[in-house]
Amino acid sequence: MNETATLTLNNKAYPLSVIVGTESEKAVDIRNLRNDTGYVTYDEGFGNTGSCQSAVTFIDGEAGILRYRGYPIEQLAEHSSFIETAYLIINGELPTSPQRKRFSQLLTENSPIHSSMEHLFEGFPSDAHPMAILSAMLNSLGSYYPHLATNDHQRDLETYEATSAVIISKVRTIAAYSYRASRGLPYIHPRRDLPYCENFLHMMFSTPYEPYIALPEVAQALNLFLLLHADHEQNCSTSTVRMVASSGANLFASTAAGVCALWGPLHGGANMAVIEMLKSIHAEGDDGTKFIEQAKLGKADKRLMGFGHRVYKHYDPRAKIIKESFYSALASLGIKDDPLLNIAMRLEEAALRDEYFLARKLYPNVDFYSGLIMRAIGIPENMFTVMFAIGRMPGWIANWKEVAANPKGRIYRPRQIYVGANLRDYVPPHRRKPG
Ligand code: CMC
Repeated sequence: MNETATLTLNNKAYPLSVIVGTESEKAVDIRNLRNDTGYVTYDEGFGNTGSCQSAVTFIDGEAGILRYRGYPIEQLAEHSSFIETAYLIINGELPTSPQRKRFSQLLTENSPIHSSMEHLFEGFPSDAHPMAILSAMLNSLGSYYPHLATNDHQRDLETYEATSAVIISKVRTIAAYSYRASRGLPYIHPRRDLPYCENFLHMMFSTPYEPYIALPEVAQALNLFLLLHADHEQNCSTSTVRMVASSGANLFASTAAGVCALWGPLHGGANMAVIEMLKSIHAEGDDGTKFIEQAKLGKADKRLMGFGHRVYKHYDPRAKIIKESFYSALASLGIKDDPLLNIAMRLEEAALRDEYFLARKLYPNVDFYSGLIMRAIGIPENMFTVMFAIGRMPGWIANWKEVAANPKGRIYRPRQIYVGANLRDYVPPHRRKPG
């Protein structure tokens, strides 16, 4: 028998059907609630709201499970690469060898950017944040491909394969150029012979006189970082991408909006905030004890960054994988005794024993260690969130497609509970009192 819920309002009962997902997650279907009752639901922060049906990523936050298209993150981290995983997320299935080859070819062909686009970088102030540049450039990129950015979902879906390859490939070039522009360094063009991560590191760190040859361990650490960030269900930036897509906007505009949403310190900016926190603890000569005590006071500006998650109420599975691989990356890079790493480990140990963190189910999230990995491989701090954006691109693209391809899709348009002033008459300027 189909399960139903009953809502009683003013002594009238309203039956509500229950939707069950493929992993037995249940939701009360309130799509007709306002029509039937005149009421809306109130769920600030959307913690209890399923905003869509999606077949991309499954998370069980209580059990610490993360799967892309059904595949456990642990298996993908062990056997796959970022590019193969990107293909999986974007297209729904792991690629066959010819599909993988074609995808790689498309990425290689698309890695350079139009030479006139290089001049756009010069319009930014020299200290512009690379996230601002990335989002502006991604949106601008669409104007170089008007046939891929028509804002007609049917037509944009027909070119989905080409557009996703353009974005996955060029986001890496744009990211590296943003960094070089912010340092006043000459642009280094992509090479056809290098794989995805090595090519990115080449564009970041080669000079016109000397090529940068990435250590295999460094490329591998970057590959893993990107793979672990490739999608994460309906987080703030992915929901933003879907919101923008729901208006009919193209893939370039929608992913550019995702970059903006990712920028904040409570989301993608957390990896940078973790390093800033560790540095300030170190500078103050604290071993982490004082900071933990402050973090327990509940003040927003003193949170233990890299801890806690809206969905995970257990160890973030990505944090576990990244932490394990971190030590081998450090060993191969010859990095020993990093004071920030020592503080991070002490903080983690202390927090995992502390009643405040235990009671609130606050565990390390992926960002607790990912900033340290980025730092170890030489990525500058203001690029950390850009790295997250490169990684998250496949997830944004796949989520855009779900919105664009939904024949019953409607524009996303939440309601609100208005709590402002009631009706009042306009007051001319000379009769206004200082507020
Ligand atoms: N340090 C100290 N206290 C915390 C922390 C923290 N990092 N996170 C949550 N709390 C407390 C919070 O003060 C509240 O306490 P109380 O119940 O006494 O008022 C309780 O835990 C619940 O917090 P919340 O703000 O309601 O939780 P949320 O689900 O809205 O926020 C979060 C989730 C990730 C924004 C938050 O845990 C946080 O700010 N963490 C630090 C920033 C961070 O690491 N962000 C990266 C998230 S993972 C990457 C990604 O997917 O974007």
